[in-house]
Amino acid sequence: MCDVSAVILAGGKGTRLRPLTVFTPKPIVPMMNRPFLAFQLEMLAAAGVEKAVLSLSYQPNKIEDAIGDGSQYKTKVGYITEPNPLGTSGAFRYAADAASQTYVVLNGDILTDIDLAKVLDQHRTTKADATIVLVEVEDPTRYGLVETDTDGRVERFIEKPKAEDVPKLRSRNINAGIYILERSVLDLIPHGEHSSFEFNIFPAILEKGLNFRSYLLSNGYWRDIGNPASYLQAHMDFLAGRIGVSQRENSAHSEIATAASVDSASLLGEGCVIKPHATVRNSVLGPGVLLEEKAVVEDSVIWSHTRIAAGAAVRGSVVGRSSFIGRSSSITEGTVLGDKATIPDYSVT
Ligand code: GDD
Ligand code: MG
Repeated sequence: MCDVSAVILAGGKGTRLRPLTVFTPKPIVPMMNRPFLAFQLEMLAAAGVEKAVLSLSYQPNKIEDAIGDGSQYKTKVGYITEPNPLGTSGAFRYAADAASQTYVVLNGDILTDIDLAKVLDQHRTTKADATIVLVEVEDPTRYGLVETDTDGRVERFIEKPKAEDVPKLRSRNINAGIYILERSVLDLIPHGEHSSFEFNIFPAILEKGLNFRSYLLSNGYWRDIGNPASYLQAHMDFLAGRIGVSQRENSAHSEIATAASVDSASLLGEGCVIKPHATVRNSVLGPGVLLEEKAVVEDSVIWSHTRIAAGAAVRGSVVGRSSFIGRSSSITEGTVLGDKATIPDYSVT
């Protein structure tokens, strides 16, 4: 399927995911101990899309170092860094490989188990210029709302609808951040200028009367991982088996004391040390995490090389890498700590 190439929009600053994105750009935050984009690249490969260009702007070198040439994800990955952020469609235009006819465009922060091959099939049978994947949500105000006719033709696109307008909307279907676009759409985007799919190009496609179709993801998993609560929830969903993609088993070696308790749902990275009477429940620990005696980690994500001192408990939280949680501290639900955080002994958050 060499006429299809992908562009992944991965240049945003990830401000809503701070402090996790201060040293780690959003496209490579660890997800089940893998760089997040691994899941998108494998999704493309599964649909026979073998080439992807990552469109970067924020901390591009870290992303390139983490993903490399993409061979371990069965995709050929190239990189293009904008001189300055060009917006979603401007970035796509800047990164698009001129040789392709059809493009898959992905927002770099969505986790889904969609079968992309089916979307490509529908795109071809309907001879669409553009196909946009939709998903139904309860609250569309954080997303781009899309109204369609009964045949799935797109009629209206409203980015981040205001709460007071929601009751007047015809549906709760939003833009899932997955587009299939033909060259006819690429040609609408000015080269080297800032522009956005959501505010400029989708309205332009409608105005020009191009064949703009939708594909409703009705039975699948979908999530934008762009804020800490959602990032944590994505891990909980993986651990509960709610996402239909393989997370690829880590063959990690850890040192778990016989008197410690680690449940089968949890995922531990290479070289974790779990001391006697410590407990890990429903959590993901990155490589080299240390839990001292009687420490507890529950429903949480702990990044690499963090140390949780004796008797401390972390629940429902995300802790960045190389942090220290002091003795007998209690890190309670919804806490998000950046890298190298130091929590003094006996603290309560
Ligand atoms: N290269 C590049 N340059 N990438 C960018 C730029 C840019 O100037 N601006 C944003 N991106 C990337 C981000 O890194 C992210 O992966 C993607 O484009 C979308 O940007 P977000 O900032 O995450 O947008 P959003 O979540 O508020 O809304 C978008 O996604 C929703 C679905 O999650 C919109 O497309 C909504 O319509 C959509 O519903
Ligand atoms: Mg987003």
